[in-house]
Order: sequence, then structure tokens, then C-alpha cells
Amino acid sequence: MSIVKIGDKEFVPYIPTDQIDEAVRRVARSIDECYASNAEPVLMIITLSGAMMFAADLNRHCSTPFEWAFVKCSSYGSSMQSSGNITFDVPLSFDIEERDVLVVEDIVDSGNTWQAMHAYFSERNPRSLRIATLSIKRDVYDKELPVDFVALEVEDKFVVGYGMDYDQKGRSLNGIYKPASC
Ligand code: IMP
Ligand code: MG
Repeated sequence: MSIVKIGDKEFVPYIPTDQIDEAVRRVARSIDECYASNAEPVLMIITLSGAMMFAADLNRHCSTPFEWAFVKCSSYGSSMQSSGNITFDVPLSFDIEERDVLVVEDIVDSGNTWQAMHAYFSERNPRSLRIATLSIKRDVYDKELPVDFVALEVEDKFVVGYGMDYDQKGRSLNGIYKPASC
């Protein structure tokens, strides 16, 4: 098995590129169906930095027109676990009032980040507010809030690649990797 060393940890292949591609295309079709009757472009809010690859591929595969905005959230905690304290390092610089907003995330784990973003964006009165996430840890997610578009369900393991990082490393891997020890 091909082991990849990232920082102080070893990772092994988990989800290959063809499977990611198929999942992203499937989600793109659902997004197109959802916004088919929209007269105006959907405002895609891309969460830096992890969602970048997924967002780029959604733009390639969706026929829905998007405008782009960016936010960056972080949560205090260890490098492998998020806490409930979410801060906006790059805040929203766009007026989203009466806009159809689609947040793009790399991974939903506990849901703390999505819940905090949902509250932050809702205050700004969008017409609609949905999320598309590359991946979700379904067994960990414990919030009532719907997660509208999900490409991949992953195990409760720390995953890297296709935008997702371990301590800022591993983002440029084309596939998704999980720790070698699991
Ligand atoms: P949550 O707030 O617990 O849902 O965690 C979501 C955020 O934590 C994501 O936006 C990622 O930045 C990060 N994260 C959670 N799990 C992972 C993982 O397995 N790999 C990489 N980043 C992760
Ligand atoms: Mg993230």
C-alpha cells in the first residue's frame, strides 16, 4: 500500500479520484435541479481554504451560474478536532440580502462550523441558504440543521487531500487519504 507522510503522520489512500469525480458530478446535477428556475446567479460562498478544489469542480460541472464570495473560519482546538468557538478570519465582504446563497465546504464533522456559519449568514437575510459539502462524517454530525448537498460520506477518521489539510499540508493530493494506523 502506498503510504504518504504528511507532517508527523502517515496516511494511506482512502477515496480515489474517479470516485470523487463521480460524487462531485452527482452533487452538481442535484444543485442544477435545485436552482433550475433561478433568474439570477447563485452566490457561492467558498470557505477557505479546504473547499477550493471542490468549489472549482462544482463550477466546472454545474450549469447554474455562480458568483463567488469567500470566507475563512477557524475554530480553536487541536489540529485534528474543532471546538464550538468559531471565528471568521476572513469575514464576508458581500451583500447577501435577498440572494440565493450556497455555502461550499470541504467537510462537515461535528457541524459546529456549519451551525456558526448558518447563524452568521442568516442574520444578513439571504433569500435562501444552503450548503454543499464535499464530505460529511455522518456518525459524528449531531446538529438538527440540514446539510443540503453531500458528495461523500466518510468514516470518523481524520482525512486529507482534495483540498483538505492536516496542519496546512496535504491539500494538493488528488485523492482522499486516511491515517495509516486505522
Ligand atoms: P466541524 O465544525 O466539527 O463540523 O468541523 C468542520 C471543519 O473542521 C472543516 O471545515 C475542516 O476545516 C475541519 N475538519 C474536520 N474534520 C476534518 C478532517 O477529517 N480533515 C480535515 N479537516 C477537517
Ligand atoms: Mg473547512
